Amino acid sequence: MQHRTILSLASAMLLSSSFVHAEEIDRSQQAADVSSQFMQTLGKTMKSTLKAEGPVAAIQVCSEAAPKIAGDLSRQHGWQVSRVSTRVRNPMLGTADQWQQQILADFERRLSNGEAAESLRHSEIVSEPSGRYFRYMQAITVGQACLTCHGSAENIPAPVKTILSEHYPHDQAVGYQEGDLRGAVSIKYPISE
Ligand code: HEC
Repeated sequence: MQHRTILSLASAMLLSSSFVHAEEIDRSQQAADVSSQFMQTLGKTMKSTLKAEGPVAAIQVCSEAAPKIAGDLSRQHGWQVSRVSTRVRNPMLGTADQWQQQILADFERRLSNGEAAESLRHSEIVSEPSGRYFRYMQAITVGQACLTCHGSAENIPAPVKTILSEHYPHDQAVGYQEGDLRGAVSIKYPISE
C-alpha cells in the first residue's frame, strides 16, 4: 500500500516536472517565433525602403516602424516586446536593463567563440521584486544594409549623418561591422506561480 502511494507520488512528480518542462519549451518556441517575425518584418521593410526611397527615408524604419511593430506585437500577445542594445542610438527605448546586459555580454562572448548568430537565444524564468517573469532574448546582428546608418563614418552618407547628429546627439550606435552583435529582441511577461 505504502509502496503504491510512493510510486504514484513519484510518477505524479515526474509528470508535473515534465509538464513544467514542456511548458517552458513551449514558451521559448512562441517567443522565438514572435521575435523572428519581428526581425523579418523589420528587415523586409528596411530593405525595400532603402531600395525604393533611399537611406534618408529609411531612417524612419528604425525610428518609427520598429517601435510600432514592437508595440503591435506587445499588445497582440500581452507581452513586452522591444529591442535593446549595449550601444544605443536612442537611450529612451533601447537601453538594456541589468539582466539584458548580462545576456548581451553572454551573446557577445558566444559570438566571438564562433557560435552562429541564429542560435544566440536565451530564455529563463526570472524572479524579480514584482514577481516572476518569463524572459527571452534573441540576438540581432549587423547585416550589410545596416552599415548605411550603423557602420563606420565612410559607410554613412552625408545627409544621413546630418539627420542622425541632429536627432541623436549622444549616438553610440555607429562603428559596427557586418556580423557584429547590434543588440537583441527582448520579450518579457509575468507568469503565475
Ligand atoms: C536608414 C538608417 C538606418 C538603417 C539602414 C538601420 N538603422 Fe537601426 N536605427 C536607426 C535609427 C535612426 C535608430 C534610432 C531609433 C529610435 O529613435 O528609436 C536605430 C535604432 C536601432 C536599434 C535600437 C537600439 C538603438 O540603438 O537605439 C537597433 C537594434 C537597430 N537600429 C538595428 C538595426 C539593424 C539590425 C539594421 C539592419 C537590418 C539597422 N538598424 C539599419 C537607423 C537605421
